[in-house]
Amino acid sequence: DIPVICIDGPTASGKGTLADEVAQALGYVVLDSGMLYRASGLAAQRAGADLDDGQAVAAIAARLDLHFSRGRVLLGDDDITDALRLETTGLLASKVAAHSEVRHALHQLQLDYRRLPGLVADGRDMGTAIFPDAPLKVFLTASAATRAERRYKQLISKGISASIAGLRQDLEARDLQDKSRKASPLAPAADARELDNSALSIEESKDLVLDWWAQ
Ligand code: C5P
Repeated sequence: DIPVICIDGPTASGKGTLADEVAQALGYVVLDSGMLYRASGLAAQRAGADLDDGQAVAAIAARLDLHFSRGRVLLGDDDITDALRLETTGLLASKVAAHSEVRHALHQLQLDYRRLPGLVADGRDMGTAIFPDAPLKVFLTASAATRAERRYKQLISKGISASIAGLRQDLEARDLQDKSRKASPLAPAADARELDNSALSIEESKDLVLDWWAQ
């Protein structure tokens, strides 16, 4: 049995950073499932598919031609590394992720990330739908104000201007869309441990999760 740690939670709660830290500490592999939905959204958009057509988008998601090379992500011949991070791509991902056909198309691909010595899976439904038997499920939250402020600092450090109020509006709108969809709505698994990291450093959150894992 390959051990899996699930880290689910709302937009910009710090899941990716925490997943990377925990994986690095344990020597585990990381699954960034949001990236798969983002890439599917971009692939569907680039193919000119009707984004409201779940079957059409699922067909594209099922044959995602993704490659990883020197820290870059390629979709076919296109370098989508920068496009993946845009909030417009996050919204696009949230739109295609609402189709159960798309979620189904990406299911096996996500299971295939399991590899020894273990996997840290980051997303919205890792603990509820993809790895329901995982021994440790973390539902990571932070206040909307904290999440917006972290996003803001990230953007500013890259020289991109933004407004905290605008960012907060965007992330709350995306969370609402993710919570209110019928297919795998964003919600903690019944056996998830909730962790509000608003007042915690990355180091503190990581140590807490590693303590839970060691228990
Ligand atoms: O985590 P990230 O912001 O990259 O996810 C983008 C979008 O993909 C989310 O807003 C959500 O709608 C969707 N998603 C999902 N299930 C996952 C991961 C992401 O529905 N496991």
